[in-house]
Amino acid sequence: MTYRNTLHLGADPSSLAKAGRILAEGGLVSFPTETVYGLGADATNGRAVAGIYEAKGRPRFNPLIAHLASFELARGQGVFSPAAERLALAFWPGPLTLVVPKAPSCTVSEIATAGLDSVALRVPDHPVAHAVLEAVGRPVAAPSANRSGHVSATTAAHVAADLDGRIDAIVDGGATQVGVESTILSCLGDRVAMLRPGGLSRDMIEDVLGFALAEGPEGAGDEPVAPGMLASHYAPRAHVRLDAEDAEPGEAWLGFGPGGGGQARISANLSPSGELTEAAANLFGMLRLLDRADIHAIAVAPIPGEGLGEAIRDRLARAAAER
Ligand code: TXA
Ligand code: MG
Repeated sequence: MTYRNTLHLGADPSSLAKAGRILAEGGLVSFPTETVYGLGADATNGRAVAGIYEAKGRPRFNPLIAHLASFELARGQGVFSPAAERLALAFWPGPLTLVVPKAPSCTVSEIATAGLDSVALRVPDHPVAHAVLEAVGRPVAAPSANRSGHVSATTAAHVAADLDGRIDAIVDGGATQVGVESTILSCLGDRVAMLRPGGLSRDMIEDVLGFALAEGPEGAGDEPVAPGMLASHYAPRAHVRLDAEDAEPGEAWLGFGPGGGGQARISANLSPSGELTEAAANLFGMLRLLDRADIHAIAVAPIPGEGLGEAIRDRLARAAAER
């Protein structure tokens, strides 16, 4: 791993142009999207994309999302079924990633798609992401901007904590609004399947589709069709105890709604008023905050599973998984 001097950029026009130039020249730049911060590289440049895997310490087989400035540009990369097109028109720009067959004109490098014949595409809804993508003028491969296996970054400071000295620049666009990663849908063939719950809720998607989502990939076998969905992921160092009534002495407490945490060594509350959107936005930052060296376990209050709660519960279950 060669040391890189990491530039800390603001979100003013000249900084954004600079970020675009660094990316176009094959560099690694972290920038905010409305979900989490991404670690971007020119998706058409295999060497640049390889740098992402190196900086994150990410296993090679895990494919990346290609980000584009518009649906029109995305059409050049993937083949959209009628259902995929309806979803793109309804929710892009937004916290939705669509896995579609590669188009013949697809320029995303093999290393970004991990050799699959499908490609994951997303048009993010964030002015800074949009400006960076416009400045590069090519698809930008971007996983979440954290070291592999750590929780995702929702502020520029989180990115710096994980990746300073390993990437070329960080564009600071403030805290991200949604706080959990995009919902990933596979649109291969006729069915639409949920590969990862995320910032766009199942009910909103099913409203637009007019039918229920399938679960998991087509012909799901041992094939790593959403290979990023390892059981242990988004993991703090401390153990995570889910659906806890309260913290035991010495534990950290992560609350939702009023109460709890009286015995905790340190506590935080995802949303004192019990709102799931607020909880999603706070999730990764609070996990980082509570994951101190003197904390062996984080007890987490029960979170309801509807709406954004599905994604929150998914991330917490991964954080709690055996590793
Ligand atoms: O909100 C987000 O989605 C953030 C921001 C930066 O866009 N990105 C993100 O990327 O979460 P990442 O790399 O952490 O997660 C991408 C997921 C992985 O689980 C990967 O396996 C899956 O997308 N994926 C990518 N290409 C795929 C494909 N062709 N087929 C199935 N799964 C794919
Ligand atoms: Mg990630």
